[in-house]
Amino acid sequence: MAKAIRFFELNTGAKIPSVGLGTWQAEPGVVGKAVTTAIQVGYRHIDCAQAYGNQAEIGSALKKLFDDGVVKREDLWITSKLWCSDHAPEDVPKAFDKTLQDLQLDYLDLYLIHWPVRFKKGSVGFKPENLDQADIPSTWRAMEALYDSRKARAIGVSNFSSKKLQDLIAVARVPPAVNQVELHPALQQPKLHAFCESKGIHLSGYSPLGSPGNLKSDILKNPVVNMVAEKLGKSPAQVALRWGLQMGHSVLPKSTNEERIKANLDVFDWSIPEELMAKFPEIKQERLIKGTAFFNETYGQYKTIEELWDGEQ
Ligand code: A2P
Repeated sequence: MAKAIRFFELNTGAKIPSVGLGTWQAEPGVVGKAVTTAIQVGYRHIDCAQAYGNQAEIGSALKKLFDDGVVKREDLWITSKLWCSDHAPEDVPKAFDKTLQDLQLDYLDLYLIHWPVRFKKGSVGFKPENLDQADIPSTWRAMEALYDSRKARAIGVSNFSSKKLQDLIAVARVPPAVNQVELHPALQQPKLHAFCESKGIHLSGYSPLGSPGNLKSDILKNPVVNMVAEKLGKSPAQVALRWGLQMGHSVLPKSTNEERIKANLDVFDWSIPEELMAKFPEIKQERLIKGTAFFNETYGQYKTIEELWDGEQ
């Protein structure tokens, strides 16, 4: 049985469970069971998004867990994200309410702007001609209104560089509590990490295993990760997750497999000693989720990958 989950404290004072179940690419038909299994084995944090197309099934699973008395709403942490075609300030509360309705909840613990990218209102799909000019300050004011209403207990962003965060902080009345980005031993983002630490913004890591199923990354085969795993008698996946926790990041591994869901929570009663943590900076760095659909030399705001990520790695 997994050990009791640990938490990180946000700048709102709320405590976010340090391991959450990722639900990106958790297919309809299996995602509900994955959420149920995760909560039964001790997860208390589920990371969702409207764009993942599976929130209604997650909502049904949550309702059953509440009805069956397996867990109480107040003991769970549920995150969701505003999609790029809903950035217009008048669309933000509508998109939020639709997410609440799908998840069958009356508040979220955390609501994030999914990308610093805007698609034309009402557009569907990732066509370059759907790209539009983002106006993050006006979208953020609508996010702040959700925070004021207490329907979103914390607000934040996802896929923001240090520069984009700095620009947001400069105009924000409510500072972002979280930036959720790709983070794992092969994308450690030291600059962003230092910036977020200095501003009291919590970093949450998506694809903490490098999404081995769909991105064909080799993080779990990396020699440093494997050397540490062998020394500690843990799996490479557990080492990748534990590295994230020791860096101070919450981690959001996706799995729909019961054994792996359990194994990914077994990261609390052991640690990576300092001399082994010191080996991780040797790992070759590469962004896996480049956001190719979000920059285009003809359309939209960011013409190149450097503009989207402000050259950060
Ligand atoms: P599955 O759902 O069949 O377990 P990430 O969270 O980095 O995006 O990675 C998710 C991918 O990693 C999925 O393909 C998932 O497959 C797989 N996965 C999840 N947990 C583990 C694990 N402990 N070991 C190996 N692969 C894993």
